[in-house]
Amino acid sequence: MSTRTVAITGAAAGIGRATALAFAERGWAVTAYDVDGAGLASLPATVRTGTLDVTDPDAFATALADLVAEHGRLDVLVNNAGLLRSGPFAEQDLGALRQEVAVNVTGVLHGMHAAFPHLRATAAAHGSALVVNLASASAIYGQAELANYSATKFYVRGLTEALELEWRRHGIRVTDLWPLFVRTGMLDGVRTGTTDSLGIHLAAEDVAAAVLAAVDPPRLHRLTRRVHVPVGRQAGAMLLGSRFSPAWLTRAINRRLAHS
Ligand SMILES: NC(=O)c1ccc[n+]([C@@H]2O[C@H](COP(=O)([O-])OP(=O)(O)OC[C@H]3O[C@@H](n4cnc5c(N)ncnc54)[C@H](O)[C@@H]3O)[C@@H](O)[C@H]2O)c1
Repeated sequence: MSTRTVAITGAAAGIGRATALAFAERGWAVTAYDVDGAGLASLPATVRTGTLDVTDPDAFATALADLVAEHGRLDVLVNNAGLLRSGPFAEQDLGALRQEVAVNVTGVLHGMHAAFPHLRATAAAHGSALVVNLASASAIYGQAELANYSATKFYVRGLTEALELEWRRHGIRVTDLWPLFVRTGMLDGVRTGTTDSLGIHLAAEDVAAAVLAAVDPPRLHRLTRRVHVPVGRQAGAMLLGSRFSPAWLTRAINRRLAHS
């Protein structure tokens, strides 16, 4: 039987890199994609690498087709590449906000579209295939000073929910992860009301472990087809709270956490 294969975007650094290393340690065939060639070059030889800008749909389709031509299957796609711009919305550069949408929204769109035929073929041949999208706890409620970022993660949330339903019949599971703040380069120099209130308590390896857990979820999660997976105690409490508190209370809590 051929080796299980995973493709991970934005994998030169941070969560993507930790995820690539974790899969490689477990003997998977891993391909790490990124725009950062130097970061990719610093990965060990157990991780295959490819330069890929997820905002380029043709390049994304070609990258996955090449991967499947080599390995014969695509078991897991991790749509991880992302950008975060912080600060008061009206003071932010419009070009930078558009780039954030291009990577976080359009990049995921391209990934889902390019991967579908390969995931479907893998599921048909081997019983299952999976997409893990990196959303965020900021997909629970719109975050002040992270307005555009937060909105991009609502897109990821919506696309994940819809395709989880649509792709069931093909044997493809679709899930997303909702970490709160994670200590990676993404948060270097970032300070918002919410980062001050809640701190940064997760490491990239914590999220990588959650990606791996999504491959073989506990029986209860598999039976209930859990779609959104909070990562860490804080995100878990926030998700639970948002489900049971009335909208006005959720809003008031978010306002207080953001000091806005
Ligand atoms: N760090 C956090 O607090 C946090 C919290 C929740 C969710 N997330 C999400 O997790 C994912 C990974 O974040 P991270 O913290 O590891 O960030 P990071 O900045 O450490 O790594 C992101 C990687 O994406 C790559 N990238 C950027 N634009 C790209 C493009 N156009 N094509 C391909 N690669 C590109 C970067 O070069 C970098 O290697 C993102 O989607 C992010 O939104 C992060």
